[in-house]
Parts: sequence; C-alpha cells; structure tokens
Amino acid sequence: MQQDTILVIGANGQIGSVLTRQLRDHYGVERVIASDIQVGAATDGPFEVLDIMNQERLEAITRKHGVTQIYHLAAILSARGESVPKVAWELNTNGLLNVLEVVRAGKQRLFFPSTIAVFGHQTPRENTPQDTVMQPTTVYGISKVAGESWCQYYHQKYGVDVRSIRYPGIIGHASMPGGGTTDYAVDIFHYAAQNKPYTCFLAPETRLPMLYMDDAIRATLELMAAPAEQLSVRTSYNVAGLSFTPAELVQAIQRHKPDFTTSYAPDFRQEIAASWPASLDDSQARQDWGWEPAYDLDRMTADMLQHLEARYSVQLAG
Ligand code: SER
Repeated sequence: MQQDTILVIGANGQIGSVLTRQLRDHYGVERVIASDIQVGAATDGPFEVLDIMNQERLEAITRKHGVTQIYHLAAILSARGESVPKVAWELNTNGLLNVLEVVRAGKQRLFFPSTIAVFGHQTPRENTPQDTVMQPTTVYGISKVAGESWCQYYHQKYGVDVRSIRYPGIIGHASMPGGGTTDYAVDIFHYAAQNKPYTCFLAPETRLPMLYMDDAIRATLELMAAPAEQLSVRTSYNVAGLSFTPAELVQAIQRHKPDFTTSYAPDFRQEIAASWPASLDDSQARQDWGWEPAYDLDRMTADMLQHLEARYSVQLAG
C-alpha cells in the first residue's frame, strides 16, 4: 500500500500547529509537510513557505513531495474578516478554489474546515440541523457557505474526495486562536491560569457550540480516515462537543480557582455570536463515521488549567 504524504496549509495556525504535530506523530515527521505564509511554529520537519493565492507554487510543492492528502486550514476568521471583507473573501474563497483545482488534477484527498458561522439569524438556534437555512452574517460565514458548495460541486462533478467539518469554537492549550468570535473561551484560561481577572467580550448568557482541541483533531482524523462510501455529506458535517455560556465557563473555572473573577464588556463580536447556533445536531456525523466527543465542560476545564498552570509556573520559575 502506498504511504500517505500530507500537506498542511496554515500550519502556523491554532488548529494547524496542533494537527501538524499529531500527524507527524502518526505518519512520521518527514511525511508531513507543514506550510504557511511565513515560517512559524512547525519547523521540526519539512516546511514550505506558501501563499495560498499562488496556485502554481501549491502545485509545485505537491509534486515535489508527492503529496497524497491536503489539510487546507488557511483562512481569515469571523471577527477579523469584518475589518477586511474583500481580503477575507478572496483568501477564503479563491484560496480554496486554488486547492480544489490542484486536487482535481492530482487526486489528493482534501480536508476543508467550515464553521458554525455559515448559519444566521433565520437558522434554528437550538440543536441546529445538518441541513437548514444558511444566511450568514459575516464575510467569513459567506465565504464558508460558498466554500462548502464548491466542495460539493467538485465532488459531484469531478469526483474530488473532499471532506469537511463545521468547526465550532475550538479550545486548546497548545496554541492561540486569532480573529475569531469564540476566542474568549481560550483567552479566559490564560488569565485564570495566571490568577488575573478577565474581561469577556461576549455577554454572560451567550451560548455557543465549542469543541476541545483533542476532540477537534480526532474528529478531523477520523473523518479523513473514514471509507468514502460511508460519507453522505460532501458540503460539511455538523460536529458537536460542548455548548456553554461565558457565565457557565467562569463557574467551571471557579470550581478549581474560587478567586477567579470576570467582568463583561461585549463588543461587535456579541452581534456575530448572537446570529450563531447555541447547539448543533450532529447525528449525521455520528451515523456516517461514528463521531463521539470525549470531553465535557469539566474535563476540558481541568485539562486546560492543568496544562496552562504548569506552563505559567515554569515561566515564573524561569
Ligand atoms: N472560531 C470561529 C470564529 O470565531 C468559528 O468558526 O470565527
């Protein structure tokens, strides 16, 4: 059997950096090519500087390394996208089209992340169905609805084996998010671990779907490993893990750190969050490829605090 060689696009990012490490553990360092617009974190193995707007360079990299699978994680997220709408659209949509063209010719299996930002005010908020109204309120959401449709189109028309998950907010200790509406749920742990008070940019009752990084990476790898004939969704799968409000997260942290305090100063991101689901129906993912989350709020909170407190106490000691 041919061994896979994997290209991660956006390997410096919140998910890309952790995914690259896990893929290297699994496939071997030399078989996982990290790439991003500039040299960054994942330099313990092969790295290529790649601007995803440059399709020729992408093609050359895949040929040079004999790439058989691509994880295309480069994107501008919801909050940042609102300040640079055209740039976000171009990067998120034309970047994806460049990747789709390359895998159409090269027959690589492709992972494309979508998002809960594809939904909007008209979407049922609780237990949001797999197939439902999608009228996004952000450029990020618009670009990902288009992206999902492009993925399905390339699958149906050209047989491209593209697989996708609608990521909710992703929470992990090993990397920082950037430019998202759900970023508070990572930031807050860094403040708590350093015994500092936190000011949250969402209101206390804003319930959003979230996923612990370990679950997110496992979901991604399980979907990519699933037999193609089991996959009935070629737009993007709803995948649920957790669903909580900032107030509930603060309480969970306070069970470990009773002195931790948070104040609230909602900004423009509150409006974005208010247009997103509170929880997701992921029964299709469970049925098609056996998705099952492992982390609940308490387990995630304990794990985050343990890792971050260890890191910050080492820094203090150092
Ligand atoms: N974490 C993302 C964001 O906030 C949601 O996909 O933009």
